[in-house]
Amino acid sequence: MYIFRLSLKRRISVCVLITCQVFLMLIYFYAQFEPNKETSEGNGIKFLQNSEEFGDQRATYHTSKSNIILKTASTRRNFVDFNSSLCFKNGTDLPSMKINRAKWKCNCLPGWHGNDCGFPEVLWRAVLASKKPVKIKGPRTFERRLIYLFKIDRFSEYIADIRINDLGSIVDLFILYEDDTSDYLRRKLDADFCKEYQHKILYAKSDGTNLWKRLKGYLKNLRNDDIVLSSDSNEIPNRDALIFLKFYDQWPQPVKFRYRWSVFGFYWMHPSKTITGGGACTVSFLKESFNNDVKLLNDNKTLSSPAYKGLTLGDLNHYGGWYCEYCNNPAEIVQFLASKPTNVINWNRIEHQKVDNNYIEDLIENGVYVDGKTELKKAHKYKDMYFAPKFVMEHDWKYDFLLINFYSKADYYDI
Ligand SMILES: *[C@@H]1O[C@H](CO)[C@@H](O)[C@H](O)[C@H]1NC(C)=O
Ligand SMILES: *[C@@H]1O[C@H](CO)[C@@H](O)[C@H](O)[C@H]1NC(C)=O
Ligand SMILES: *[C@@H]1O[C@H](CO)[C@@H](O)[C@H](O)[C@H]1NC(C)=O
Repeated sequence: MYIFRLSLKRRISVCVLITCQVFLMLIYFYAQFEPNKETSEGNGIKFLQNSEEFGDQRATYHTSKSNIILKTASTRRNFVDFNSSLCFKNGTDLPSMKINRAKWKCNCLPGWHGNDCGFPEVLWRAVLASKKPVKIKGPRTFERRLIYLFKIDRFSEYIADIRINDLGSIVDLFILYEDDTSDYLRRKLDADFCKEYQHKILYAKSDGTNLWKRLKGYLKNLRNDDIVLSSDSNEIPNRDALIFLKFYDQWPQPVKFRYRWSVFGFYWMHPSKTITGGGACTVSFLKESFNNDVKLLNDNKTLSSPAYKGLTLGDLNHYGGWYCEYCNNPAEIVQFLASKPTNVINWNRIEHQKVDNNYIEDLIENGVYVDGKTELKKAHKYKDMYFAPKFVMEHDWKYDFLLINFYSKADYYDI
């Protein structure tokens, strides 16, 4: 009896040992063959490898202590050379040109123009509409680098996330900043906010001094013809237009954007349809005309001043991007309105009610602006080619609350 029990114990311990070994081997194999998601992205850009360029092995964001080296990229990979003409790949109907080999002229896709099909619709129209003759040259041999500065607080997090993801592959450096007293953005970044693009993010605090003057010293190989872009928290500039600015020369400065004005989500539009905002220019223009003050790029005075005519991208039918106002959930909109005591609310209309979730949900359902009187226009997801930025349309599960009006039954069932 006693012997039997011993051997049973032994058998059990052998079994446990074998199980442990098998388990360890499984872990080993899993670690060996798990695909490493970090190392590559669809278009062949290698992220971890790339971060070495910034002198930093970890794919994490930069702070003012970093030395940042901006990469130099040739524009050629974006063009096809057909002996006598260079055609912009994404604007050209390449299959049709392969059939008709005798004709070495770029066949542009709808929405693209110019000899090399490199002019997106908004740019083409802006050049045609401009009073002064515009002589744009290009493509350049090397891309200009694009540096995008904007402020993030808890109310602008969704739009910031859209901007970074929509523009992340064409922006060379994001300078994201927050108020001196806030720690919100830093905590978000530490919690992997926009992790895929963190190697392109420089985090800063605005302390009232000139942010650009303070930070540009960290960009070791900044060039005079690189682009500085700055927008207010609701703005998502048109991606194709930004690519154009990187590839071509002699566009008028400063560049302004006429944004499509969405309210609560992309499904409602303000009846004014557009709103003009800032702003892009080159590093040298910023220094010479604005004394390095980035704020002037999206300041209303600059935008409306005849002294800075520049180029305005977008009109009433083709937009220079999106301005998504109150694009948050009702609770956040209530907090936002409470944090900024403005006079947009028509207190008479709401009488003894207070501005609460129900009030905001009511506005969203019925398409009424926060002033309580302006009627919003309905936008149609499937009929409107400028309904929302491409990244948002392609990730509709993530941004469904900005694409579908969940407070309106009519909209919910509308196709
Ligand atoms: C284009 O250039 C290549 C190399 O220079 C040449 O072999 C080819 O015949 C040219 N094609 C045409 C249609 O001119
Ligand atoms: C060209 O189009 C591809 C596919 O949509 C996209 O991934 C790429 O970023 C575009 N390139 C440029 C320069 O716009
Ligand atoms: C900006 O200026 C324009 C024209 O001067 C004016 O109509 C508009 O209300 C101003 N916007 C803001 C936000 O001050």
